[in-house]
Amino acid sequence: EVWNPNGKYRVISTKPMPGTRWINLLVEQDCRVEICTEKKTILSVDDIIALIGNKCDGVIGQLTEDWGDTLFAALSRAGGKAFSNMAVGYNNVDVNAANKYGVAVGNTPGVLTETTAELAASLSLAAARRIVEADEFMRAGLYDGWLPHLFVGNLLKGQTVGVIGAGRIGSAYARMMVEGFKMNLIYYDLYQSTRLEKFVTAYGEFLKSNGEQPVYWKRASSMEEVLREADVISLHPILDKTTYHLINKDSLATMKKEAILVNCSRGPVVDEVALVEHLKQNPMFRVGLDVFEDEPFMKPGLAEMKNAVVVPHIASASKWTREGMATLAALNVLGKIKGYPIWGDPNR
Ligand code: DGY
Repeated sequence: EVWNPNGKYRVISTKPMPGTRWINLLVEQDCRVEICTEKKTILSVDDIIALIGNKCDGVIGQLTEDWGDTLFAALSRAGGKAFSNMAVGYNNVDVNAANKYGVAVGNTPGVLTETTAELAASLSLAAARRIVEADEFMRAGLYDGWLPHLFVGNLLKGQTVGVIGAGRIGSAYARMMVEGFKMNLIYYDLYQSTRLEKFVTAYGEFLKSNGEQPVYWKRASSMEEVLREADVISLHPILDKTTYHLINKDSLATMKKEAILVNCSRGPVVDEVALVEHLKQNPMFRVGLDVFEDEPFMKPGLAEMKNAVVVPHIASASKWTREGMATLAALNVLGKIKGYPIWGDPNR
């Protein structure tokens, strides 16, 4: 699909993206916009090299693509100056390779914070209240009357939510769980972020001034402290060498037997084989997963686990957010072409 065929700058999007604002922005600034409508979901490096061709000023790509040395070399050969991932995570992008070839890299932070945190909250609730199991039970026609023990789950109020990685999304999630469900909070942040601390301190003051019971919170000095103490644990780190299999056999064994683990970050943060084993051994342990180690696949056994709620990497999938991500990605590429500062810049 081509927009503004005579535009001066050739910008490629490897996928159709929601909304038209991003297209209009580029077209208004003299770009020819080419949108790849190839049916297969994941494009290979060769597919993308073919798209780039001999002249390309910028590319908007997706987290399913491997943006390494080969692609940045191809983009640079075609005169390309900019690449933007349509994602906040950029573990699929080799930023050093991009720097080496003089290609600026952008990502799309901010617009997906609340949407992603809302999905983490939804998975926490779905796991705590066994919503998917109960839904399947209803649809299978198995409900034959109210019973005192039918799908008994966990009350979140008064329990402790544990957040690992208190950046934008982790902090937004913590806020939702603390304010919305009156959970106590323990968190561990690899980057010493203070944004969550500011919120809980101010919220504590607010509760006190209203004569309400204060929420207990603490910043943990280790991840293990969170794993030991929390009833619901949500993972929000970036994926890099230091966070690969952050949750493994040992860390799972550290958690409470009836804990809930939620992952809306990246699949490889959790050792999924160890997780499946843990779910089998501990039927009261539950998980809510948006991401998987080998997407689009799940490790053997996971799909059969009743104590797992699984969704296909949809944490940022609200209309507003996806349109915002597309717009930011377009602005990143346009910014570089036109010489403006770019929005999401992992080098900063
Ligand atoms: C991201 O942005 O990194 C998400 O995984 C997809 O929205």
